Amino acid sequence: MFFCCLLIVGIQSHAQNATVSNKCLECHGKLIEKKMIHKPVAEECLSCHQSNGKEHPLEDVEGFALVKDVPALCYSCHEEKNILKEEVHAPVKEGDCFSCHDVHSSKGEHLLSTAAPGLCYSCHTDLQNKVDSSSVVHSAIKIKKACVNCHSPHSSAEKKILQAAEPDLCYSCHDKTIAVGQRTIPDMKSMIVKSKYVHGAIENNGCSVCHNPHASNTKNLLSKSYPAGNYTAAQKQNYALCLECHESTLYEDAQTSESTGFRNGETNMHFLHVNQPKGRNCSNCHSVHASNNLYLIADKVTFGEWKMPIKFVKLPKGGSCAPGCHTEKKYER
Ligand code: HEC
Ligand code: HEC
Ligand code: HEC
Ligand code: HEC
Ligand code: HEC
Ligand code: HEC
Ligand code: HEC
Ligand code: HEC
Ligand code: HEC
Ligand code: HEC
Repeated sequence: MFFCCLLIVGIQSHAQNATVSNKCLECHGKLIEKKMIHKPVAEECLSCHQSNGKEHPLEDVEGFALVKDVPALCYSCHEEKNILKEEVHAPVKEGDCFSCHDVHSSKGEHLLSTAAPGLCYSCHTDLQNKVDSSSVVHSAIKIKKACVNCHSPHSSAEKKILQAAEPDLCYSCHDKTIAVGQRTIPDMKSMIVKSKYVHGAIENNGCSVCHNPHASNTKNLLSKSYPAGNYTAAQKQNYALCLECHESTLYEDAQTSESTGFRNGETNMHFLHVNQPKGRNCSNCHSVHASNNLYLIADKVTFGEWKMPIKFVKLPKGGSCAPGCHTEKKYER
C-alpha cells in the first residue's frame, strides 16, 4: 500500500532553501512551490490537517480533514481580536479568508493571492472604473501599500475600515512637503496644526469632506467644483464645494444686514468682490485650511509669481486691509 511505504524524504523548499522533512511533501510539493511559505505549512501539515483513519490517498476517500473549519482554524493561531474589530470588512465577516489569501504559499507578501490595489479591484470594480476615468488620481492609492495605506483589509474601529481617523490618516503622509514635478505640495500638517485658527470643516469633518481620497475630475482632488486661479464668474456651480455648508446669500445679497459680516454698512463686500463676471475667488482672501488671522484671512495671496500680502486688521466693527491691489480700505458694520 502506498501510505505505509512512504519514506521520510528531505525536500528542498525553494524559498527558504532549507530542508523540510515531510513525507506529505513528496506528493504535495507543489503546495510550497511559491516564494512565501506559511510558517506552519513548512513545519507541520498536521497542525491543520488530521487523518480520518482512511487510507491516503485513495480515490473518493478524503484521508485528511481540516482540524477545524476556516476561519476558526485561523483563529486558533492568529488573534481573533486583531482581525475582528468593530467595523468588519464584508468578506472577513463571512470568514472568506481565501478571497485574498493563499493558505500554503504565495508569490507575494502576507500570503496574498494578488497585491493591492489589484486585489481590492477584483471586487471593487466600480471604484476601479471611477479611478480609470478620472483626470486626477491620488498617488496614495498606488504607492507603498496602496489601498492598505488608508484602509485595513480586515477591520477597524473607524468607519469605512480606515486605518486611522482623519485628519491623522492624511497626515501620515502629508506631514512633509511632497514634490510633484515642478510643484511642491506644502507640509499640510505643520501648516494646519501650527495655525491659530483651523477651518471648522476640518475640525468637524476632516479632509475627505472636500477632497476625494481616491480620484477626481477636479484640480487638487476636490470633491465638488471650486475655481482654480484668481478669478471666476460667481455662478453657484463654481462654488459648489463651499456652498455645501455655506449660504450663497453670503455673496449674492447686494445689500444686507445679516448675510455676512463682511459689509460696509449694508453694502455686502463679498458681493462686491465675488459677485461679478470676473469675481475674485474665495482663496484670494481666505486660506481654506487654516490661518493665523481671524476669519481664515490669508497672509498672502498667490497672484501669478507674486505673493501678495493682504495685511488684514480687525477693527471694532469691521476690518481693514491693504493688499497689493488697492490702498488701505476699511469696512464698518
Ligand atoms: C503518495 C502521494 C501522497 C502522499 C505521500 C500524501 N498525499 Fe495527500 N493526496 C495525494 C493525492 C493524489 C490526493 C488527491 C489529489 C489532490 O488533491 O492533490 C491527495 C489529497 C490530499 C488532500 C485533499 C483532501 C483529502 O483529504 O483527500 C489533503 C488535505 C492531503 N492530501 C493531505 C496530505 C497530508 C497531510 C499528507 C501527509 C501526512 C499527504 N497528503 C500525503 C497524494 C499524497
Ligand atoms: C495553516 C493550516 C494548514 C497547514 C499547516 C497545511 N494546510 Fe493544507 N489546507 C489548509 C486549508 C484551510 C485547506 C483548504 C483550502 C481551501 O479550501 O481552498 C487546505 C487544503 C489542502 C489540500 C487540498 C488541495 C489544495 O491545494 O487546496 C492539500 C492537498 C493540502 N492542504 C495539503 C497540505 C500539506 C501536504 C501540508 C503540509 C505541507 C498542508 N496542507 C499544511 C490548511 C493548511
Ligand atoms: C498552526 C498555527 C497557524 C494556523 C492554524 C494558521 N496560521 Fe497563519 N501563520 C502562523 C504563523 C506562525 C505565521 C508566521 C507569523 C509571523 O511570521 O509573524 C503565520 C503567518 C500568516 C500570514 C502572513 C503574515 C505576514 O505578515 O506575512 C497570514 C496572512 C496568515 N498566517 C494567514 C492565515 C490564515 C488565513 C489561516 C487560516 C486559513 C492561518 N493563517 C492559520 C500560524 C498559523
Ligand atoms: C480583502 C482581503 C483580505 C481578506 C478577506 C483577509 N485578509 Fe488577511 N490580509 C490582507 C492584506 C492586504 C494583508 C496585509 C496587510 C498589510 O500589508 O499590512 C493581510 C494580512 C493578514 C495577516 C498578517 C498581518 C496581520 O494583520 O495580522 C494575517 C494573520 C491575516 N491577514 C489573516 C487573515 C484571516 C484569518 C482572514 C480571514 C478571517 C483574512 N486575513 C482575510 C487581506 C485580506
Ligand atoms: C472578495 C471581495 C472583496 C475584496 C477582495 C475586497 N473587498 Fe472591500 N468590500 C467587499 C464587499 C462585499 C463590501 C461591502 C459592500 C460594499 O460596500 O461594496 C466591501 C466594502 C468595502 C469598504 C467599505 C466599508 C464600509 O464600512 O462601508 C471598503 C473601504 C473596502 N471594502 C475596501 C477594500 C480594500 C482596501 C480591499 C483590498 C485590500 C478590498 N476592499 C477588497 C468585498 C471585497
Ligand atoms: C488616502 C487614503 C485612501 C486610500 C489610499 C484609499 N482610500 Fe478608500 N476611502 C478613503 C476614505 C477617507 C473613505 C471614506 C470617504 C467618505 O467617508 O466619504 C474611503 C472610502 C472607500 C470605500 C467606500 C466607498 C463609499 O462610498 O462608501 C471603498 C470601497 C474604498 N474606499 C476602497 C478603496 C480601494 C479599493 C482603495 C485602493 C484602490 C482605496 N480605497 C484607497 C481613503 C482612502
Ligand atoms: C500614502 C501616502 C498618502 C496618504 C496617506 C495621503 N496622501 Fe494625499 N498625496 C500623497 C502624495 C504622494 C501626493 C502627491 C502626488 C499626487 O498628486 O497624488 C498627494 C497629494 C494630495 C493632494 C493634492 C493633489 C493635487 O493634485 O493637488 C491632496 C488634496 C491630497 N493628497 C489629499 C489627501 C487626503 C485628504 C488624505 C487623507 C484622506 C491624503 N491625501 C492621504 C500621498 C498621500
Ligand atoms: C473646506 C474644504 C477643504 C477641506 C476640509 C480640506 N481642504 Fe485641502 N484644499 C481645499 C481647496 C479649495 C484646495 C485648493 C487650493 C486652495 O485654494 O487653497 C485644497 C488644496 C489642498 C492640497 C494641495 C495644496 C497645494 O498647494 O498644492 C492638499 C495637499 C490638501 N488640500 C490637503 C488637505 C488635507 C490633508 C486636509 C485635511 C487636514 C484638507 N486638505 C482639508 C479645500 C479643503
Ligand atoms: C463641510 C462643511 C464646510 C465646507 C464644505 C466649507 N466650510 Fe467653511 N466653515 C465650516 C464651518 C463648520 C465653519 C465654522 C463656522 C463657525 O465657526 O461659525 C466654517 C467657517 C468658514 C469661514 C470663517 C471662519 C471664521 O473664523 O469665521 C470661512 C472664511 C470659510 N468657512 C470659508 C470656506 C470656503 C472658502 C469654503 C469652500 C472652499 C468652505 N468654507 C467650505 C464648514 C464648511
Ligand atoms: C476680498 C476678500 C474676500 C473674498 C474674495 C471672500 N471673502 Fe469671505 N470674508 C472676507 C472678510 C474680510 C471676512 C471677515 C468679515 C468680518 O469682519 O466679519 C470674511 C468672512 C467670511 C466668512 C465668515 C462669515 C461672514 O460672512 O462674515 C465666511 C463663511 C466667508 N467669508 C466665506 C467666503 C467664501 C465662501 C468666499 C468665496 C465665495 C469668500 N468668503 C470670499 C473677505 C473675503
